[in-house]
Amino acid sequence: MREIVDFLILGSGAAGLSIALELAEHGSVAIVTKSQASESNTNYAQGGIAAVMDTADSFDSHVRDTLIAGAGLCNEDVVRTIVAEGPAQIRRLQDGGARFTSRHGSLHLGREGGHALSRIVHAADATGREVEESLLGCVSSHANIHVYDYHFAVELITQHHLGEKVTRSRKDIECYGAYVLDEEVDQVIMFLSRVTILATGGAGQVYLHTTNPDIATGDGIAMAYRAKARVANMEFVQFHPTSLYHPGANRFLISEAVRGAGAHLVNLEGHRFMPDYDERAELAPRDVVARAIDDQLKRHGHTHVLLSLSHLPRAEVLEHFPTIAATCRQFGLDLAGDAIPVVPAAHYMCGGVLTDVNGQTSIRGLFACGEVACTGLHGANRLASNSLLEALVVSVRAARAACSPDNQVELNHQVPDWNSEGTSHPDEWVLVSHNRDELRRVMWDYVGIVRSTHRLERARRRTRVLYEETEEFFRKAMLTRSLCELRNLIAVAYLIVESALLRQESRGLHHMTDYPGTREAFLHDTVI
Ligand code: FAD
Ligand code: SIN
Repeated sequence: MREIVDFLILGSGAAGLSIALELAEHGSVAIVTKSQASESNTNYAQGGIAAVMDTADSFDSHVRDTLIAGAGLCNEDVVRTIVAEGPAQIRRLQDGGARFTSRHGSLHLGREGGHALSRIVHAADATGREVEESLLGCVSSHANIHVYDYHFAVELITQHHLGEKVTRSRKDIECYGAYVLDEEVDQVIMFLSRVTILATGGAGQVYLHTTNPDIATGDGIAMAYRAKARVANMEFVQFHPTSLYHPGANRFLISEAVRGAGAHLVNLEGHRFMPDYDERAELAPRDVVARAIDDQLKRHGHTHVLLSLSHLPRAEVLEHFPTIAATCRQFGLDLAGDAIPVVPAAHYMCGGVLTDVNGQTSIRGLFACGEVACTGLHGANRLASNSLLEALVVSVRAARAACSPDNQVELNHQVPDWNSEGTSHPDEWVLVSHNRDELRRVMWDYVGIVRSTHRLERARRRTRVLYEETEEFFRKAMLTRSLCELRNLIAVAYLIVESALLRQESRGLHHMTDYPGTREAFLHDTVI
């Protein structure tokens, strides 16, 4: 079975929906998304969107904060462009129906770590839901856009599928669309398109503890890597310092905005420890805070630390953070009064498919935007709330570039159907769940907040075994989403470990005990 469209978009978070609305003015658009359409990292974003909306603020200040967080690896031109186009994206969202928190007739701006000023546009503490709902509302009423939910993108189609040899050194690789598994009928559909856009989000699920929902399995990065696109900076995984530590809470995020509002971090002995690590205390960038918590846990042998808001006005806490307060209540905790148990968890992938500021990848006809991409905005560490900003700005720029015939490919009708010959339903499916659990634990234990060559090499050996077992199983098994996700997670783990081993220094989010400082020789992206 085949579907033919002008523009094929993989993913329905902020990046996918935003680019769809632009492209729909220029042709037919298919959005392929693996779960229900709203399920995405976007939907869970709490703190907000960083943008210069106040006359007391300036682009220069936002640029400076972004560059400081990025620890020497940001592309300054990209940073300037994205920061300058932020305010227009906030207005575009408002025009599309998004309602952000305001006070006395103007936007209320929150404060987060690493920002010199309050500049976070938010919808209380559920900004992502507001963005996702408003964009989905616009998409669903557009005649040119068709959303295929519960459709899982398996593989990007390139000359490889026409029987040609495609190596990484080849300069003329083209993308003709994607093979997609329709989960309802268990059938692989071929989508042919002039332009394919990866908007598949992040990869938090590669770690045992993560703030990301189940969909975040790095599929886009893995597919692009297999298609021989360039992938960069995969060692820079951001761990959020404060996820709720409670059995059953599944690492629910306690927004950085809570610390922005004045919350303190204390250890189980009652000591407020952040001033011992950084003069910015709880408002230091999140890599600093996550490492400080990690150090406290190791030093004292504790399982968690505490976030305390009891010194803040109760009414304000409950008004600003209604969603977080409600979730805490479910677990018997009072956000405004109790000390809230928290631990760090994997949160954001700074690396990804290498693109320019227009989302253009190294493959013709293939664009990437949002968390799946590495544009140069974040460098070695992402500044809080810069990610929704990037997804919105780059998707609109990518739409403009994707409309140019120079960046499109001819619809290729020679592409063969997906070949599932020789596959069956073997009876050892337990391998899939077992290997997924094992991979996530290996990554957490050996490739976490603080790393060493010894631990990374151990992770490399373990992931190699998981890779070989899974590939052997894949060759004989019918295609399923869980099997494809496992393959993708293993590919992402491989890219993180290899990139981490290449970077023999500590910079931004990448902290090596055997290379404690930055080194001039590594002042460049890690491109694989
Ligand atoms: P996503 O929103 O994750 O969307 C990815 C889409 O791709 C989903 O629809 C998914 O189902 C689909 N998909 C994935 N693989 C496939 C496949 N193989 N086939 C088909 N579909 C596929 N950032 C901020 O700037 N501010 C915040 O306040 C903030 N808070 C956050 C809070 C939490 C709990 C989390 C997890 C993240 C937060 N972030 C925040 C980060 C930010 O939400 C994400 O980086 C951003 O939303 C990514 O948008 P995206 O469109 O690239 O990807
Ligand atoms: C948060 O609300 O703490 C998340 C913000 C972000 O990830 O940018």
